Amino acid sequence: MTIISPSILSCDFANLERDIKKVEPYVSWIHIDVMDGHFVPNISIGIPVIKSIRKITNLFFDTHLMIENPEKYIDAFTVAGADLITVHYEATKEKTPEIIKQIKTKGKKAGLSIKPKTNPDEIKDYIDLCDLILIMTVEPGFGGQKFIENCAHKIPLIKKMSHNKNLIIQVDGGINDETGKLCKSLGANSLVAGNYIYNSEDIKKAIESLKK
Ligand code: DX5
Ligand code: ZN
Repeated sequence: MTIISPSILSCDFANLERDIKKVEPYVSWIHIDVMDGHFVPNISIGIPVIKSIRKITNLFFDTHLMIENPEKYIDAFTVAGADLITVHYEATKEKTPEIIKQIKTKGKKAGLSIKPKTNPDEIKDYIDLCDLILIMTVEPGFGGQKFIENCAHKIPLIKKMSHNKNLIIQVDGGINDETGKLCKSLGANSLVAGNYIYNSEDIKKAIESLKK
């Protein structure tokens, strides 16, 4: 089964509840992109927004932190309602194992993400500590970018390095029916999609096309 995680970065933030309700019947996760203007050249949403949307949906909050020093905010994100917290290897480096442990100690699922230019070998010692590995297939920071083909080969590499049969291998960036199909054939079992879902005429059909 493929976990589809619609990215709310593509929502109309003045109508966030309405837009979350549009996907709610067809998925169990939503993807929440948090950007700090330092780790990535963009600023999005943060803790107060997560706290507010926690009140209007029971969907699983897949929280993607594109921020420096994430360890400072893990507790606040868990209190706000995050279910899974994914941090970037490039923002954590030698602190990675402690930060993963910090997330798990809070009773939450922990994810580790790598940017397109990061070699999967760099995280090989950390893969088995994580519930999810997020392979970025665009440079993080913006929705609506084009899928970078040469990131896809990382999917089987990560799969091979893992000893955990329940590991979730997620891809994020430029995912549509075609790129999603490619990633699934290589072993990805979770697809994040923003524009493809939210800009489609028929949201249900778009989500179904990613699932199958
Ligand atoms: C980019 C974000 C993505 C983004 C995906 O930094 O991490 O989650 O919202 O958007 P699409 O699917 O439009 O590429
Ligand atoms: Zn994301």
